[in-house]
Amino acid sequence: MKKNILNILSLISISLLIMGNVQAQQWKIDDDLKDARLKIPYDETNIDAGKLIYEKSCKACHRDIVIVDKNDRDLPSAPNLGNKEFQTNNTDGEIFCKISHGNGAGMPPFESQISEEQRWQVIAFLRSFSDTWEAPDASAAPVADKADEFNGQIKAISTSYDSKNNSIVAKVEAIDSEGNTVYPKGVKVKISIQRGFGNLPICDGEKTDDNGLVSISLNNLPPDTAGFIKVYAQVGDGVVKSEADLKISDGWKWENPLDGHHLWGTRDKTPIWLLITYLTVTISVLLIIGWAFFQLARIYNLRER
Ligand code: HEC
Repeated sequence: MKKNILNILSLISISLLIMGNVQAQQWKIDDDLKDARLKIPYDETNIDAGKLIYEKSCKACHRDIVIVDKNDRDLPSAPNLGNKEFQTNNTDGEIFCKISHGNGAGMPPFESQISEEQRWQVIAFLRSFSDTWEAPDASAAPVADKADEFNGQIKAISTSYDSKNNSIVAKVEAIDSEGNTVYPKGVKVKISIQRGFGNLPICDGEKTDDNGLVSISLNNLPPDTAGFIKVYAQVGDGVVKSEADLKISDGWKWENPLDGHHLWGTRDKTPIWLLITYLTVTISVLLIIGWAFFQLARIYNLRER
């Protein structure tokens, strides 16, 4: 009987372990990208650029791409991305998400290592191995998405603390095509804050508003003892970034009340009721101690006699 229960328990824990494992290996597909099609022109420049990226970042695991019906390599080794099953069962957007986020197991996330454009370029290269895939209409695809994206040159990003809203404000500065300084709209910003255990991201890809600003509430995040927090901010893939120590409060140093000269240092400022209370208490204590000694002395005398 006991043995049975043990068996059942271990069965349950093993299934939980397996489930956890399966969970960790899932692909995360972003809703807005699920049906997306290649967002850059499918041309030689992009395919060649994608080939270079593939050789540098992917080939070590995925090896040469060979056109086959089904993946001909056993997991856990990386699949042959020229297999027709993969090519027909995945939209460009799904492949983009798989490359960006990885799957928490064999496939690493590339989001922070290769830019968005480079990821699309690799996809263009992968698609060059498919004979069924059709490139989206060059004129139709990218424009809609790029409409509010800034195309000038980003110069700088800076951060400041907005005490009224208790938030961190990041400001992006750029140069437009005519050489004027502008504060562009639609630029993706990342912000994180240094904590004891590493950096805590508080904003991941939020876009700047009409004034080139992104504002992120700090909620109740405590500063360090001196009232500072260290803030890292970057634009897009981190080519332009900044680091700042922002003072967000006066800190929370513990104050010893005796250091504050509350009672002794400035007796003339002490309220009279406090003085009287203080004197009364002190005198009473002294009287009680004196009385106790007096009683002790009496007992001692009595015994002597
Ligand atoms: C460290 C080894 C490694 C590197 C480097 C790597 N991959 Fe992978 N990749 C894998 C493994 C392993 C899998 C299979 C994961 C699984 O199915 O559990 C995979 C799966 C994939 C898939 C999904 C295939 C499918 O059938 O859905 C795509 C797409 C992919 N990789 C693209 C890339 C691209 C593009 C690069 C380079 C930017 C890259 N990988 C770099 C190991 C790697």
